[in-house]
Amino acid sequence: MWRTFREYGYFTAGAIPDWRDSEVTASSIGGWTIVIAVGSLAVGTGQVTAADTDSDRKAVEAVCGRCHTTGLFLKQRRSWARWNELFADMMERGADGTDDQLDGVSRYFLENLTLVNVNHSPAEELSGVLGISGDVAEAIIARREHQPFADLAQLREIKGIDPNILEQRKNRILF
Ligand code: HEC
Repeated sequence: MWRTFREYGYFTAGAIPDWRDSEVTASSIGGWTIVIAVGSLAVGTGQVTAADTDSDRKAVEAVCGRCHTTGLFLKQRRSWARWNELFADMMERGADGTDDQLDGVSRYFLENLTLVNVNHSPAEELSGVLGISGDVAEAIIARREHQPFADLAQLREIKGIDPNILEQRKNRILF
């Protein structure tokens, strides 16, 4: 269960940098504008196909909509560590799903509801939130080790980054 989340290692104490402790709600970072931007992403870019997004969204409904409405969290934005704490909590309350469904939930949360810190987050989170391959995520990490990123413009210079995705997800990208 939740193998995907566990693989990222966030159930290990001490692996969580300070910035993750703050929970950011949608209203404090622009709320509806983000929701609309994310919605148009599925239609606007080839990277995320409508079919993938639909099936991930269905997985969220199936896994997380069983006991309460998904409206409870769809407008929230949290770090991946914070979401994993919530997943663990919900699991204790009885949340479950097939491996495919849990993968879909992971993907949906990373692509749509998760905050990332370009100067601190591990490769898996960079990949998931920014829609990039592992190699590009590693390029970000290599660059930040000698020169932290100051803004989106600097991030855009990394080869393999899709500027449209950056623009659409910019409210979830922290430095
Ligand atoms: C087996 C039933 C069940 C399932 C499945 C379930 N939840 Fe919950 N969830 C609850 C209950 C019960 C509460 C109320 C907890 C409380 O009152 O403190 C809750 C509360 C919440 C809250 C509000 C409290 C908080 O900590 O922010 C969020 C957000 C939430 N669930 C998200 C999710 C997500 C995401 C999933 C899917 C991964 C999920 N839930 C699946 C039972 C469930």
